[in-house]
Amino acid sequence: MRCFVVVGQNATATGDFLLQDIPGTSGRLDIGLRCVRAALLLSHGVRRDAVVYLVLRGGPRAPRVLRISGARAHFIRPDERSLAVLARKVLAYDVGGAAREFVEVRAGVAVANGDLDRVIADVGAATLYVLEESGPDLRGAVGLEDAPSAFILGDHLGLDEATRARLGEVGARPLGVGPLSVHAEDAIAIALNELDRRDAQEKEGERLSP
Ligand SMILES: C[S@@+](CC[C@H](N)C(=O)[O-])C[C@H]1O[C@@H](n2cnc3c(N)ncnc32)[C@H](O)[C@@H]1O
Repeated sequence: MRCFVVVGQNATATGDFLLQDIPGTSGRLDIGLRCVRAALLLSHGVRRDAVVYLVLRGGPRAPRVLRISGARAHFIRPDERSLAVLARKVLAYDVGGAAREFVEVRAGVAVANGDLDRVIADVGAATLYVLEESGPDLRGAVGLEDAPSAFILGDHLGLDEATRARLGEVGARPLGVGPLSVHAEDAIAIALNELDRRDAQEKEGERLSP
C-alpha cells in the first residue's frame, strides 16, 4: 500500500467553493486534487494499491481529512473540475462533530474529522516519509519499495513547524526527489516513478532467478 498525504494549510474542509474558481475560493484545494490524480491515476487505469489523504485545515469545519482509496474508488476522472465536484459532494456530508472514524460517502471516498494524527492512525504500520526539498535523495533510500509506506507533502505553503515537529516525533524520514522545489503533484509522480522502477526490477529479478 502506498499512501500520499497532502497537508492543505488553508484548503477548505467544506464543499463551499466555486467550481469556476477553485484555486481562488477553496484555499488551494486544487493542489490536493491534482495530487489525487498524480497518485491514483495511470494513463488507462487506477493504482489500486494507492491511497491519498487530503488534510484540510481551512474553513469552519476544519480540520477534516478526505481519503480516496484506489482499491475501491470508481469513476475517478483525471480533470480537476470532476475531482472538485466529487470532493464537494463528499465534503458536504456531515460526519457529526464528535465522530473520529472515516465515513465512506462515495465508493472509495471517505471523510473524517481530525488532522494529521487521524491519518497517522489510519495508515497504521506504514513507514512514514516526509517529502521535502532538503531531504536525502529518495533514489538512494534503502527499503523504499517495502510497502506499506506513507509519504507526507506540503502544499504551496509547504509544511508548518508544528507539522514538521509532529512528523519528527513519529519518526517520519525526510526524503527529497531532486535538487529543485517542484509542485506537490510532481513530487508524487517522481516518487511513484522510483517505486515503479524498483517494482519492475524486482519482478525481473524474480523472473530470471532459477
Ligand atoms: C511547492 S512545494 C512547497 C513550496 C513551499 N514554498 C515551501 O517552501 O515549502 C510543495 C511540496 O512539494 C514537495 N516537494 C517539492 N519539491 C520537492 C523536492 N525537491 N523534494 C521533495 N519534496 C518536494 C514538498 O512536500 C513541498 O512541501
